[in-house]
Amino acid sequence: MKIIMLGAPGAGKGTQAKKIAAKYDIPHISTGDIFRANIKNGTELGNKAKTYMDQGLLVPDELVVDLVVDRVQQDDCKNGYVLDGFPRTIPQAEALDKALAALGDKVDYAIDVNVPDENIVNRMGGRRACVGCGATYHLVYAPTKTEGICDVCGKELILRDDDKPETVQKRLNVYHEQTQPLIDYYTKAGILKTVDGTVDINDVFAAIVEILGA
Ligand code: AP5
Ligand code: ZN
Repeated sequence: MKIIMLGAPGAGKGTQAKKIAAKYDIPHISTGDIFRANIKNGTELGNKAKTYMDQGLLVPDELVVDLVVDRVQQDDCKNGYVLDGFPRTIPQAEALDKALAALGDKVDYAIDVNVPDENIVNRMGGRRACVGCGATYHLVYAPTKTEGICDVCGKELILRDDDKPETVQKRLNVYHEQTQPLIDYYTKAGILKTVDGTVDINDVFAAIVEILGA
């Protein structure tokens, strides 16, 4: 099962992608996580990506397309994968389709987690990420057992650099301009499925399972 997660920044793509990966036993591939890991390790890719990410801009297509096309051809992707944060532009979607077609393959589902802009800004201010393992929480909607401490690895939680309110607004604008056209793209391809992302995390997941099959 090859799945793409679509949705505005903070819509809950990462939250749902992790649950999908666990239930269907397929890898969760997040381009945002890959970039953040590279930034943390001080790699050349990380340094390049950081200048764009901190401004709320997309990283150029050429820095992301090959990385994903290589990743989905690794052994653990044989039974499928869930892509989170890619594609984000029409050229990225076209490049993915072309690469998969060359392998006799295709995307099965594009799931749009639909959340209006008003809800997004409120959510992002409450998001906290673990400095150790990258796990994501929310002060109100997905709290940790001990305040400020990761449930998974015990390390400290921080506000992501790009979750400051002014950067969130910029990311939303970029989403509407560059990523929202993918809704049309996958509607035309006949694989778009929309779920309401404003309801409780477990209810969003139940709607996704209904689409993918138990
Ligand atoms: P990326 O990490 O992909 O950021 P994003 O798309 O902006 O998405 P987020 O991670 O912010 O949100 P999410 O939808 O995963 O929400 P989450 O589940 O965390 O990318 C970061 C940057 O990297 C980009 O800006 C760009 O610069 C670069 N980049 C990455 N991929 C790229 C690409 N392909 N091309 C070019 N550049 C690229 O949830 C958000 C919060 O809400 C959490 O706190 C969560 O606990 C909470 N929450 C989730 N669901 C619910 C719910 N149903 N109810 C209440 N709270 C909820
Ligand atoms: Zn952790």
